[in-house]
Amino acid sequence: VIDIRKLYAEGDVFTYDPGFTSTASCESTITYIDGDEGVLLYRGYSIDDLAEKSHFLEVCYLLLYGDLPTAEQLEDFEVRVTRHTMLHEQMQYFFRGFRRDAHPMAIMVGVVGAMSAFYHDSTDIGDPWQREVAAIRMIAKMPTIAAWAYKYSVGQPFVYPRNDLDYASNFLRMCFAVPAEDYEVNPILARAMDRIMTLHADHEQNASTSTVRLAGSSGANPFACISAGIACLWGPAHGGANQACLEMLREIGTVDRIPEFIRRAKDKDDPFRLMGFGHRVYKNFDPRAKVMKQSADEVLGLLGIENNETLQVAKELERIALEDEYFVSKKLYPNVDFYSGIILEAMGFPTSMFTPIFALSRTVGWISQWKEMIADPSQKIGRPRQLYVGPTRRGYVEVENR
Ligand code: ACO
Repeated sequence: VIDIRKLYAEGDVFTYDPGFTSTASCESTITYIDGDEGVLLYRGYSIDDLAEKSHFLEVCYLLLYGDLPTAEQLEDFEVRVTRHTMLHEQMQYFFRGFRRDAHPMAIMVGVVGAMSAFYHDSTDIGDPWQREVAAIRMIAKMPTIAAWAYKYSVGQPFVYPRNDLDYASNFLRMCFAVPAEDYEVNPILARAMDRIMTLHADHEQNASTSTVRLAGSSGANPFACISAGIACLWGPAHGGANQACLEMLREIGTVDRIPEFIRRAKDKDDPFRLMGFGHRVYKNFDPRAKVMKQSADEVLGLLGIENNETLQVAKELERIALEDEYFVSKKLYPNVDFYSGIILEAMGFPTSMFTPIFALSRTVGWISQWKEMIADPSQKIGRPRQLYVGPTRRGYVEVENR
């Protein structure tokens, strides 16, 4: 039996794997994916069960500590999180430094990175207690940061967190409450938001999580690492796909225009891709997309807008693509982003907020993975190699002779 770990340790294995399609960068006990069967488990629990029976803060506990909490542990965890939901008042100046129409993701990259300037104690990553405090701070403050990034981008006053509300309701209120007006959180929307957060909480070594781990492997502080993860998530091939997907559905507009877009997606000379379709790991239905589709039906039904044209286009697009030889042969199924945008739009969010909501949901995954990595005694700085394909050695030529 070949001991592959030993070979790697001795430097006897060198692989060339662009995009890391078949290279494991770490061992992890957090999330399991079977892409062929469409299975996703957090610490062994199926995403369907968690989305149906659990709630986001309980899932956060599970991801961070490895087991579902007892009632007492959960209560203690909720108290610890709610104690940290406020942002330092001075951070408002940082928000106000951005251009008034800045994308909320741009604000989040900056503000989260700047947290290391406000919470110095949490940058002592050698101290397990400080790592714990950093994790709680990130989970607690992220809804406030995302909501304030939104408020700032639409020119409205910041709304402070309310700790008597559950995690999702508090976030919705910070986004939509306007001072001097009453705002009641709709429990249907709060439940749907909680489910979106649960479905996005972790997804093993995706691009942004790998970015967090790579940044963290150098000993960088947790806020800097999460900020790097947010930057990576913003790309349209990753977290930015939910915004791109809804914009695409709107561009398609009516069901009769779907064949034209399907044709474009198959044309190799056209850079257009069907947003919300395809996944690096899932070569079967993304299990999160199934729950999301059901949630979209529920939310739109309960809000009385089930005839929403975007949803009709989405359903018909899915139906046509799943029967199309191109998509079938390449195993391109709808991913989690295909339906999440429709729900978020129905809640009243602009498309620019879709990726920030993904970022706030994924924060627990990022920080759990970061903690797991730092606590691992075999952890090394991440340092990929390369295949050099440039010129061989050449002599320097003075500028006047070139
Ligand atoms: N539309 C049309 N064709 C597609 C699509 C798509 N959405 N996705 C993949 N393909 C085709 C590719 O052109 C390629 O064809 P080829 O074999 O003829 O060259 C083949 O399917 C394989 O695609 P790759 O890009 O090699 O697959 P990869 O694993 O690198 O990419 C990705 C996965 C980035 C998600 C891709 O499917 C994509 O761009 N999808 C649209 C964006 C999207 O929805 N991203 C969200 C991902 S989920 C998440 O981040 C939460």
